[in-house]
Amino acid sequence: MAPLGLLCWQAFSPDSDLDAATAASGNWAMAWLAAAVVMTPLAKLWRGLARLLWLRRAVGLAAFGASLVHLWLYLRVMGDYAEPGGTWALVWAEAFTPGILTGWLALLLMLPPALASNDAAMRALRAAWKRVQRLALPAAALALLHMAVVHDGLMLALAVAALAGGLQLVRFFPATRKAL
Ligand code: HEM
Repeated sequence: MAPLGLLCWQAFSPDSDLDAATAASGNWAMAWLAAAVVMTPLAKLWRGLARLLWLRRAVGLAAFGASLVHLWLYLRVMGDYAEPGGTWALVWAEAFTPGILTGWLALLLMLPPALASNDAAMRALRAAWKRVQRLALPAAALALLHMAVVHDGLMLALAVAALAGGLQLVRFFPATRKAL
């Protein structure tokens, strides 16, 4: 997460390129989210990775944290474009365009798993906990749509979708783990 910290720090400099920082933070958020959703299928394939599954919550939280940084930078950009006091009106006006709406929906779907990423929620939700965590999958799909639409990122989004989506098929295989 250090590069995201650096982006935040740079954003306070008067000559910072906030558009570029928003794009960079979006890519970080996508990378963490993609990592979070491929961990289970990869662990099904390789037993060595199964030992690292305890990191899954942290990886998911990193995706959520990076998304919040991305949102904050976006709001800073909108603040620069808007008339004084008009930032939220501009954010609202743009929120329903397909590129931005997919981003908001992805973030919204990431919220319940992020809030439930602790032992107390795990105990309270019991069997429902897994269903809550699985919201990361539609969140990733929406984030990929957002990436494809919002900044002509179609090819990169397709590459990530092919890798992360393809690996999801492993979830339907019988458990056949190989030791690394
Ligand atoms: C809170 C709602 C969100 C808003 C308002 C939003 C807004 C934006 C905007 C305006 C851009 C274009 C930046 C630019 O190229 O100048 C962007 C790009 C991007 N966003 Fe978001 N976003 C949101 C949520 C997310 C989430 C949750 C993810 C991933 C988990 C994400 C991933 C990306 C990616 C990968 C890009 C492409 C970066 C690039 O251009 O290279 N965004 N977003």
